[in-house]
Amino acid sequence: MSDAARIKPPIAFIDLDAQRRAIGPAMDEAILKVVHSGKYIMGPEVAELERALCAFAGVPHTLSCANGTDALGLALMAWGITAGDAVLCPSFTFAATAEVVAWVGATPVFVDVRDDSFNMDPASLEVGIETARRLGLVPRVVITVDLFGQPAEYDAIVPIARAHGLKLLVDAAQSFGATLHGKHVVAIGDMASTSFFPAKPLGCYGDGGAVFCHDPETLDLLQSLRVHGQDNNDKYENVRIGMNGRLDTIQAAVLLQKLRVFAQETEARQAIAARYNDALQDVAIVPRIGPDRVSTWAQYVLRIPGRDRAAVLARLKAGNIPTAIYYPKPLHRQTAYAQYPVAGNGLPVAERLATEVFSIPFHPYLDAPTQDRIIESVRAALTA
Ligand SMILES: Cc1ncc(COP(=O)(O)O)c(C=O)c1O
Repeated sequence: MSDAARIKPPIAFIDLDAQRRAIGPAMDEAILKVVHSGKYIMGPEVAELERALCAFAGVPHTLSCANGTDALGLALMAWGITAGDAVLCPSFTFAATAEVVAWVGATPVFVDVRDDSFNMDPASLEVGIETARRLGLVPRVVITVDLFGQPAEYDAIVPIARAHGLKLLVDAAQSFGATLHGKHVVAIGDMASTSFFPAKPLGCYGDGGAVFCHDPETLDLLQSLRVHGQDNNDKYENVRIGMNGRLDTIQAAVLLQKLRVFAQETEARQAIAARYNDALQDVAIVPRIGPDRVSTWAQYVLRIPGRDRAAVLARLKAGNIPTAIYYPKPLHRQTAYAQYPVAGNGLPVAERLATEVFSIPFHPYLDAPTQDRIIESVRAALTA
């Protein structure tokens, strides 16, 4: 074997360059068009993207915004969530899910997750609602997270939310494009949000996000909140406290190009995940997607209970296989969030999962030889 053949190229955890090559010059043209138009803020691509996202996901209204965190915050602001209110959210998620609750002065109440889907446990949600009431808080919203792209347990959670008069906000930062019973997750909640952070299933070339809603009144409110609470008919009249939360026109242009290949990419993700599952199920607990769901596979996450995870990751690193841990610490154990209540007596599943999970390279342009190399390395690292 020649030296060149022996030197293996580095494997990207998520290969955005491969996607760029697949989209080709159309992307550069779309970006340059915005540059030459000078319409950097709220150019025509922004409204075009909002229409395209509605059509893609079957949602009546979409408001694009600056990032997925603002998207969550805008939804809570539109509902007037404030001090004394409780917002129930999973602890095994990215900080933004709970951060926005604190932004508006409300209290996040952390709920446990299921160990099969990593998503909010409906039984723990019921306990969390009781905990909130016992603390004198008013439960107002439940934020579900479709972790790693898999739709949460909506068949159980929607009736609980309805029974307790809670609004459902779907944090679809990792799951735009995912479906349950054929319905897009962003169409399931009273509102939903997503993120277009570059590494997300549908990502732009910077920060971006969107809020999805069902009625024009809510859209009006979100539009006003997105631009400093201005009156939608008189931009010099500020009628509420808002934010500067617009999506850049260039990012809208990027997303319009990426939407063209998104369905195809989501298909490719299914095939790669199935191949990983087949090849790894005897050495680790592989992700299982519940019935009648399509995941966007934002991450491919393995569980290795009872194993020395640090040693496994060190072996993979030595073999030049990048890995990541989502999430090494549940939110209720983090400095900024430790002060907030948890459902019942604690969240044992979230705590256990944080010690057991790790993610391996995953993206829709992962070719078969690279998949093989990753599979071989993961198997070797787990059977050493
Ligand atoms: C579950 C979840 N919610 C919210 C966000 C926030 O999105 P953004 O980074 O676009 O603000 C993220 C981003 O990583 C996320 O994973």
